Amino acid sequence: MEQYVIKGGTPLKGEVVIGGAKNAALGIVAAAIMTDEIVTIENLPDVRDINVLLQALSGIGAYINRTGKHEVKICGSKIENIAIDYECLRKIRASYYLLGALLGKYKKAQVTLPGGCNIGSRPIDQHIKGFEALGAKVKIEHGMIIAEAERLTGNHIYLDMVTVGATINIMLAACMAEGKTIIENAAKEPHIVDVANFLNSMGANIKGAGTDVIRIKGVERLHGSEYSIIPDQIEAGTFMLAAAATKGDVLIKSVIPKHLEAITAKLIELGCYVEEFDDAVRVVNTGERRLGHTHVKTLPYPGFPTDMQPQISTLLALSEGTSVVTESLFENRFKYVDELSRMGAKIKVEGNTAIIDGVGNFTGAVVSAPDLRAGAALVTAGLAAEGFTIVDHIEFIERGYEDFEKKISALGASMIKTDAEDEKAVQKFRLKVG
Ligand code: EPZ
Repeated sequence: MEQYVIKGGTPLKGEVVIGGAKNAALGIVAAAIMTDEIVTIENLPDVRDINVLLQALSGIGAYINRTGKHEVKICGSKIENIAIDYECLRKIRASYYLLGALLGKYKKAQVTLPGGCNIGSRPIDQHIKGFEALGAKVKIEHGMIIAEAERLTGNHIYLDMVTVGATINIMLAACMAEGKTIIENAAKEPHIVDVANFLNSMGANIKGAGTDVIRIKGVERLHGSEYSIIPDQIEAGTFMLAAAATKGDVLIKSVIPKHLEAITAKLIELGCYVEEFDDAVRVVNTGERRLGHTHVKTLPYPGFPTDMQPQISTLLALSEGTSVVTESLFENRFKYVDELSRMGAKIKVEGNTAIIDGVGNFTGAVVSAPDLRAGAALVTAGLAAEGFTIVDHIEFIERGYEDFEKKISALGASMIKTDAEDEKAVQKFRLKVG
């Protein structure tokens, strides 16, 4: 098992370049197999979830050629198997996008029930409702979801709640259904727009992505494409909050500032200086005064993202006064709170609300990442804390952050990745950074 070892207390300073959006890439990679022509995807993040998905696609016969760290060529012409049951795939949530992609293209799909971060009960009833509305029969047998249709026909689908996964999945299947599909109460996240733009670049006819009504005219076939994925809003947001938590000054490059507005607004409210450029944001916390308190409620885009909730709670735990954070999407997303308490945070969780009494500083401790974003929050806490912090179970963090320790170290922090058994490496690091 690998771990991060961090010597905290150094303000992050300098520039960091953000990679492609993981959650857009998952939809786009799955969609790429819907054509028999070659698709080139650029700005692909080199993170574990993407690599697992590519491995699964290769396993069913798709041509996968990783032409660079951030580029892949995919061709779905040789797919000979629509049943995907790989142990590895069970670990990633987005395996469900293969259902929409295979169902759209081959009118049948069989995929293992999705896993992913354990952040609460994560039903897929809206995905199933959408596929059924398009004419598919869907059943769950032996841990597999099996969807089949003689033909898919467009329909009017009203989603009961705003869901990213179901919006993308229905979009995938519907773009090769006969006739028109309308998805109402659709999610509006930037990665929905990116997946729609990608499908359109392959010849799909999708309008309205980014609003709550998406209109799709089915097409018979899709063609090859070259496409570059949008920057990762959550990776960017994580660096913004890490800059604030360490009293740093960081220019976060290759971002779309509009996608970061909810985070920017909160940072300004707390007392940070945020400057927006065309494709960068600079976050400065001079440290002259402690940051203030605020209330945060996670909401679908353009609201404050649930994927930034652990990171902002960590920042608020260092700020002055009492803050209240309400998690309205996933019921189990406060699992990092006990770990943060071990570093000195004062947080009380009641149901889906965390009441945070800001403390002036954290002290380093050995903590365990419970999931991807909570893991990133614990790293942020370690960077801000006095002394040494060890974050273990970093396999969660590596699902969604590329070269995390390298990017953070390049901003001046003292942080290494080691094997948990390698005590010598930890000792050497401690001696080196004092
Ligand atoms: C996506 O999960 C992301 N995952 C999550 O990111 C992110 O937290 C979430 O969207 C919200 O933005 C991927 O893109 C792979 P939802 P998803 O469907 O699609 C309920 C990360 O850290 N719901 O938008 O699974 C659901 O329980 C990960 O990168 C149903 O009830 O989320 C939740 O309360 C973690 N029935 C709400 O809707 C359904 O059929 C929103 O979930 C579907 C969802």
